[in-house]
Amino acid sequence: MLEEHLPGAVTASSRRVTRSGTGRPGYGLLPAVGDWRSARADIYERLISEELGEDQTGAFLVWGDPSLYDSTIGILEEVLERGRVVFGYDVVPGISSVSALVARHRTGLNRVARPVQITTGRRLAEGFPEGVDDVVVMLDAHQSFRAYADQDVDIYWGAYIGTPDEILVSGPLAEAAPRIERLRAQARERKGWIMDTYLLRRRPSES
Ligand SMILES: C[S@@+](CC[C@H](N)C(=O)[O-])C[C@H]1O[C@@H](n2cnc3c(N)ncnc32)[C@H](O)[C@@H]1O
Repeated sequence: MLEEHLPGAVTASSRRVTRSGTGRPGYGLLPAVGDWRSARADIYERLISEELGEDQTGAFLVWGDPSLYDSTIGILEEVLERGRVVFGYDVVPGISSVSALVARHRTGLNRVARPVQITTGRRLAEGFPEGVDDVVVMLDAHQSFRAYADQDVDIYWGAYIGTPDEILVSGPLAEAAPRIERLRAQARERKGWIMDTYLLRRRPSES
């Protein structure tokens, strides 16, 4: 991506930090989030202090948009709070997978004068959010939408959105759910990882 947009203009450093889990199925990674953030803060701090000259500008390339389920801004604030490196920064908005999802399905996020909620698979597994009929779900490794397949709900699902591997499925949840499960398992097997997001849209009751 950097080569495409900034050919030859930057030195890119890539660092991988893996999260450790507690072994609790599905949610095992969450208790370790604090440690994981601090580990990333260590790396960011080192990159800024050792790989950037006084007058140089660096950039963190965030997947999608840093405003949605992303820790980059919080980590940079943690680095600043430590006080060992001093810098200013701007946030450049990107296209979130949520925006890309509804665009690819040629729909909107909400219906006229109605709210929309963005949540996680973990929270959806606890219940359909109250007071909303349009719910966007991210970070769902367990296909929590299956719990609502007996309800009057449509799904707009997408995996690897915006990439050459993009897969899109939409329709009544009862019909689409088995297809999504199958495609998701196949894609995950083929690529070794998957990123998917979906919108659940409850149909208005006929009264
Ligand atoms: C940690 S969040 C980061 C989201 C990111 N900040 C954004 O704007 O989309 C990761 C989640 O975003 C969603 N996601 C990110 N990229 C995606 C893509 N290309 N296609 C589908 N879902 C994606 C998935 O739900 C994934 O679990």
